Amino acid sequence: MKNISIIGGGTMGNGIAHVMALHGFHVQLIDKNDAALQKAMQTIEKNLERQLQKNHINVDQKEMTLANIQCFNEISTGVASSELIIEAVTEIESTKMEIFRLADLHASPNCILASNTSSISISKLAEATKRPEKVIGMHFMNPVPVMKLVEIIEGKHGSKETLETIVKLTQTIGKTPCVVKDAPGFISNRLLMPMINEAILALQEGISDAKTIDDIMKLGMAHPMGPLQLADYIGLDVCHNILCILEEGFQNAKYHPAELLKGKIDKGKLGVKTGEGFYKY
Ligand code: CAA
Repeated sequence: MKNISIIGGGTMGNGIAHVMALHGFHVQLIDKNDAALQKAMQTIEKNLERQLQKNHINVDQKEMTLANIQCFNEISTGVASSELIIEAVTEIESTKMEIFRLADLHASPNCILASNTSSISISKLAEATKRPEKVIGMHFMNPVPVMKLVEIIEGKHGSKETLETIVKLTQTIGKTPCVVKDAPGFISNRLLMPMINEAILALQEGISDAKTIDDIMKLGMAHPMGPLQLADYIGLDVCHNILCILEEGFQNAKYHPAELLKGKIDKGKLGVKTGEGFYKY
């Protein structure tokens, strides 16, 4: 495998492009918005510089990584020579389905289609294509250059060959693949989001303040970030969407998003990206 297309230049898309290009793959980074592509390349350069300063990479690796990334506005041209496409656009099912349909239309017959979705059904995305056996989930974690996990999701139509190829690729880029079946929230968010929601409920009930709740998990459970800080980092709207997918998927009210979470979103306080969530940035 040499050519990998990444659709979406946001936080996850640029992180995935960074890691793939650093490991020698030719990356076609696709976003219909020029400003998003420009911002993605600036972020990749900034994060490579951070790795260079810490002696994790050398100058040649930084330059090779940047030279390995080519930007495109259109899926049709950006996927033409790809052996793998990784979709990393916003968590809206209809948008992802349309991108899968288009990628399937323009990609070569052997190309694997992966989604970085954090909760949408891989089997359903596969059904938007004519190659369901070549569709798989590759759920990267933010910040992608740092986090070791890639949660690999096997859809019900996926082939053993597709799974083996993606597991091998994940190891090649220095990450650890953890394979799970397709179910709401997979494993990562099925476990993470109830913890975040519970922390928000405790805050809502006045059991303690945000910093103390976070300190308890940081100092007592060795979490690098407390659940409320992590929710701000992920985005409160994203957390809300995932909780709704869990509630609907399992038909269980225990996943119902806390009122305080909804209140923050209504006020436009979505976390780090808007300058305020449970904390101010
Ligand atoms: N690119 C490259 N390197 C980066 C980086 C980036 N974007 N961000 C951080 N780093 C590096 C730093 O340079 C630093 O390197 P050294 O160890 O060599 O010094 C290291 O990572 C740690 O960073 P910092 O010193 O700046 O800060 P920190 O120690 O507070 O760590 C953190 C920052 C890595 C984000 C840490 O707080 C952490 O692990 N937080 C939890 C992150 C997490 O849980 N992510 C998963 C979110 S869920 C998700 O993504 C998916 C979903 O479906 C919702």
